[in-house]
Amino acid sequence: MTAQRACALSELEQDTALRVELDGVAIAVVLDGNGEVHAIGDTCTHGDISLAEGFVEDDTLECWAHGSAFSLRTGKPLNLPAYEPVPVFEVTIDGDDVLIDTNVKKEV
Ligand code: FES
Repeated sequence: MTAQRACALSELEQDTALRVELDGVAIAVVLDGNGEVHAIGDTCTHGDISLAEGFVEDDTLECWAHGSAFSLRTGKPLNLPAYEPVPVFEVTIDGDDVLIDTNVKKEV
């Protein structure tokens, strides 16, 4: 499996998350304040909530339901009630295309 186009880089707004689905995997794509693009599993590990509907703060994405903030780098929740991490996917930028391989988890 190779990386697939998830969205256009120009579609991403800084400090907001975009939900995309690739191979049936829901992914939250985030352009952080430093211009870096991150891709983490979109489903909160505490409940069936889309993290992309939450809030980006520095390099975290916070679930709106109960406030667990997940690291965009490691996928780990930094506070309860969630305690299990979401997957983090490798992102490649090719021109205006954001490419993600859902089989390749980022080494952290
Ligand atoms: S559903 Fe996300 S913190 Fe509870």
